[in-house]
Amino acid sequence: MISKRDGRKIPKHIAVIMDGNGRWAKKQGAKRIFGHRSGVQAVRDITEGCTELGVDHLTLYAFSTENWSRPQKEVDGLMTLLVKTINVELPTLMKNRVRLTAIGDLQGLATGVYKNLSLAIDETKLNKGLNLILALNYSGKWDLTQAFKVICGEVIKGIIKPEIIDEDLVSEYLSTKSIPDPELLIRTSGEMRISNFLLWQLAYSEFFFTEVLWPDFRKKHLNLAIDSFNDRERRFGQTSEQLDFQ
Ligand code: IPE
Ligand code: IPE
Ligand code: MG
Repeated sequence: MISKRDGRKIPKHIAVIMDGNGRWAKKQGAKRIFGHRSGVQAVRDITEGCTELGVDHLTLYAFSTENWSRPQKEVDGLMTLLVKTINVELPTLMKNRVRLTAIGDLQGLATGVYKNLSLAIDETKLNKGLNLILALNYSGKWDLTQAFKVICGEVIKGIIKPEIIDEDLVSEYLSTKSIPDPELLIRTSGEMRISNFLLWQLAYSEFFFTEVLWPDFRKKHLNLAIDSFNDRERRFGQTSEQLDFQ
C-alpha cells in the first residue's frame, strides 16, 4: 500500500532522470561541469524532500553506460564530483539516517571511485531512513543482460528449472531485487525519453516530465510531480468502472 500524507498518496519509490545540467550551465555562459556541480544542491534538496515525505526509495540516474562516450574531461569531472560529493555528504546522510546504495556495473568504475562509494555504502548500511539508490554506470539493457547471464548459468547448473522462470523470478535477478518498482518517474529538462534507464521496472510507472533543468529542481517541483501522480488513475489494464468497486 502506498502511504498517505496530507491526504496525498506518496509513492514508495521515486526514480529520477536528472537531466539538463549542461544546458543550465550554457545558459549562464559557463562550462558544463559547472552545471553538474550546481546539480548537487538539487540532489540534496530532493533527498531531504523525499525523507520528509516518507518516500522509501529514491533512485537517481547519475551516470549511464552511454555517458562514457562524452568528452573524457567531462567524464573525469563527473567522477571527481561524485567522489567529492559522497565524502562531503556522508555526515549529512548519517544525520538524516539515509542509506546509500548503488545499482549498475560498479566494477566498471575506476578503482578510487568504487572504493569511496563502497565505503559510504558500508558506513550507511544500517540506516533506517530513505534508501538513496545511485544508478552509476547503469543502463536498463545492461541490467537485463546481466540478469539473463546469471539465470542461464543457474539453469545450466540445475539450480533453476526453466519452467519456474516467471516475472517475479526475473525481478529477483535485476540489480533492483527486493526494491518495489518505482510508482513515479520524473525527468527534468523537457526531454521525453527513458534513455536506457530502468526498462523492466518502469513497466507501469507514472511518468512526470518537466521543463525545469535539474540544477533548478527543488522540493516544490517534487511536490508538483506528486500532485500530478495523485491526479492519475492507475488502471493496470482494468477499466475505470472496475476501480470504482475496489
Ligand atoms: C545530466 O545533465 C547529467 C548527466 C547525464 C550526468 P546533462 O549533462 O545531460 O545535461 P544536458 O542534457 O546536456 O543539458
Ligand atoms: C540520461 O541523460 C542519463 C543520466 C541522467 C545520467 P542523458 O543526457 O545522458 O540522456 P540523453 O543522451 O539525452 O538521452
Ligand atoms: Mg542530458
